[in-house]
Amino acid sequence: MRKLIFKYFLITSIILFIAKFNAFTQIFDKEVYAQRRQQFMEKMDNGVAIFISPEVSNRNNDIDYKYRQNSDFYYLTGFTEPESAFVLSPGSEYEFVFFVKENNPMTKMWTGDICGVEGAMEKYGADTAISFDQFSTLMPYVLRDKDVIYYNMSNDKFNDEISEIINYRWGNTPKKIINTSELVHNMRIIKSAYEIAQMQKAIDATCEAHIEVLNLAEPGMYEYEVKALIEYIFAKNNCPREGFPSIVASGPNATILHYKNQNRKMEDGDLLLMDIGAEFGYYSADITRTIPVNGKFTKEQKKLYEIVLSAQEMGIDMLKKGVGIEKIMNRMTEFAGEELLKLGLITDKNSAWQSRLWYFPHTCHWLGLDVHDVNGNVEKNEDGVILQEGMVTTIEPGLYINPENIDNLKQILEAYRMQVTEEEINEFIAKVEPVVKKYAQIGIRIEDDILITEDGNKNLSDKAPRTVKEIEEMMK
Ligand code: GLY
Ligand code: MN
Ligand code: MN
Repeated sequence: MRKLIFKYFLITSIILFIAKFNAFTQIFDKEVYAQRRQQFMEKMDNGVAIFISPEVSNRNNDIDYKYRQNSDFYYLTGFTEPESAFVLSPGSEYEFVFFVKENNPMTKMWTGDICGVEGAMEKYGADTAISFDQFSTLMPYVLRDKDVIYYNMSNDKFNDEISEIINYRWGNTPKKIINTSELVHNMRIIKSAYEIAQMQKAIDATCEAHIEVLNLAEPGMYEYEVKALIEYIFAKNNCPREGFPSIVASGPNATILHYKNQNRKMEDGDLLLMDIGAEFGYYSADITRTIPVNGKFTKEQKKLYEIVLSAQEMGIDMLKKGVGIEKIMNRMTEFAGEELLKLGLITDKNSAWQSRLWYFPHTCHWLGLDVHDVNGNVEKNEDGVILQEGMVTTIEPGLYINPENIDNLKQILEAYRMQVTEEEINEFIAKVEPVVKKYAQIGIRIEDDILITEDGNKNLSDKAPRTVKEIEEMMK
């Protein structure tokens, strides 16, 4: 009964929560961040922890790249402005000291209102806030005679300064310097209902973008038009930023894993691979769909598509708490090898290199504030990290039949540090080359975002059509 009541409250609070932030691009609950800092401080071994936001990067001349806060910094504060830092000193009078940029008439005129020191206390809950201009001057006093210092070397400009203070100038040398990442990442890898609700917003916006493309894609469109359409749908769903640069790859480009340009005109008969993710409240989605531009898969495309889909479904079935993630990826790789052998794209499913020409074995990664989210230092065994309730992983098998891999086989084997005889290479090429020609330039990836639950998993991205039938129906 208690479980039922808990579930009822969880579901109701998620619904209320979604309704509450529906119209905003970032939600902010001061209490959530205070609790996280508290949890972090409870894990600290006394001492002080310092977090510094990354520097703004220059793009060209006096124009900067759009700024995004470091994810650990954001996780503990919800604060998004650059030129900021904070210090946590558990048990001291000021446990949370925030250094932020001061608001002044000039910044108001040029860049608009910023949080300022008053806001850092009122909105973000700092025990005291100080201008960031004072940070360097005050740091030696903050670190002086501390036995344990937590810092993750996240800011190039301040790394030298802090290491100089620690090593040479002020008071006793600390006994321990600990990377903050392990503590924060162990917290970040398990997602709360609050986080899942935000991830679901990003994921739903991304599914809607996939559906929009299914309805509108056609030969003759450029990849960049599709990209613009996708990002418009993100924005329409209160996600004005992507979690990573959109990959929109048609025809032969679909065989390139992280294809960066989007300048090809799509042709009749092409596949279109879209690996995209909206960001909501700093949480990223990461969903890939591969569709036929003209609405119908060819026989060869369909054959490979069904293999990738079966591999993915086999993997999704195995995603449960208590199971090692490597075991799941290995099973999918083994399955892909069996299928590639049946097709004649490899000659030996146990070979250490053959399948890797067309299939990449690393098919899962954590998802969260970073699209390739942090690992922490959680329990593992010989099967890899053991899945726990609240983890979110992608699962993204693919087949990428790039015929150039045959021409470049020797160099690829060198890069993989594989010792293979000339005779073996020639024999392999002679056997597989005709089959490679048949499937040449087909690139397929299917990627979903999966939450590990109490009794199995939940596919958070299942709104985006995935089977051949669903895709072809929608494109009619
Ligand atoms: N979007 C990058 C990845 O799937 O890992
Ligand atoms: Mn991914
Ligand atoms: Mn992806």
